[in-house]
Amino acid sequence: MTDHYAVIGNPISHSKSPFIHSEFAKQTGQNLDYIARKIPIDELAVGLRQLQTEGFKGINITVPFKEEAWQQVSDKSAHAERAGAINTIIFNDDGSLTGDNTDGIGLCRDLTNNHQIELKGKRLLLLGAGGAARGVIEPLLKYQPSSLFIANRTASKALDLSTLFAKFGSIKGGGYDELSGSFDVIINATAASLNGEVPPLPADILASDGVCYDMMYSDNDTAFISWAKRHNVAKAIDGLGMLVEQAAEAFRLWRGVQPDTQQVIAQIRQFKKA
Ligand code: ATR
Repeated sequence: MTDHYAVIGNPISHSKSPFIHSEFAKQTGQNLDYIARKIPIDELAVGLRQLQTEGFKGINITVPFKEEAWQQVSDKSAHAERAGAINTIIFNDDGSLTGDNTDGIGLCRDLTNNHQIELKGKRLLLLGAGGAARGVIEPLLKYQPSSLFIANRTASKALDLSTLFAKFGSIKGGGYDELSGSFDVIINATAASLNGEVPPLPADILASDGVCYDMMYSDNDTAFISWAKRHNVAKAIDGLGMLVEQAAEAFRLWRGVQPDTQQVIAQIRQFKKA
């Protein structure tokens, strides 16, 4: 019997998740299909019930539902509970739902395994304090950076997050006007790229061998990746690896097998060139 999975979001038509998961299924011999489904902005609860009624085994959640989904699912992994946002749900056979967040694992595996970026002892800057940012803070702090600054347009949200995660490491939060000094790794978790915008960053914010990472993935350079290249970044990394790595972790949670991410990342890069 074929098991059914989906990614839900709004918009969702350009999602690469159906391709990624069908490749994982082929690789590992798992009998499943995976679709993208657009859910009306104010109908998440109805959408979740509908998917459950249709017999789906699990879903991924993307913009803009990660925080609202967290509110609707009571049983969560400890890390997802603290994150305040989920990107993965397991529909259990007994009718209950389990929520998790694989974004942080995805980001950290891409940075450290795929791109060999050292995080320990480094000065990290996270841009944004929404659902995307919340999921990656605790996993980033596990790598023991010397400091993590969360900068956000609405400074109070960054400050709140820094208080929430203070026990996991050296963390501060504030507005863009509070940024000072230079950073070794700057990670963009804002939605600014969706509008072709870049948060207001001082020109000298990047350390000389600094790295920029955009959690947003697009076939073309995002505004943040273009900004990084204009500011002589040592390495600008798009979010493709994170997208595939977070998917692999969700796949492992659902199916109990670990797919090979390198092959799928290479395939998507190849389409981009074609
Ligand atoms: P997500 O769940 O994808 O993180 P979100 O909760 O709407 O989405 O958060 C979007 C983030 O991008 C927020 O940090 C937002 O800043 P505010 O909290 O001040 O709204 C940030 N953001 C969106 N557009 C931006 C822009 N043009 N410049 C800077 N930050 C922006």
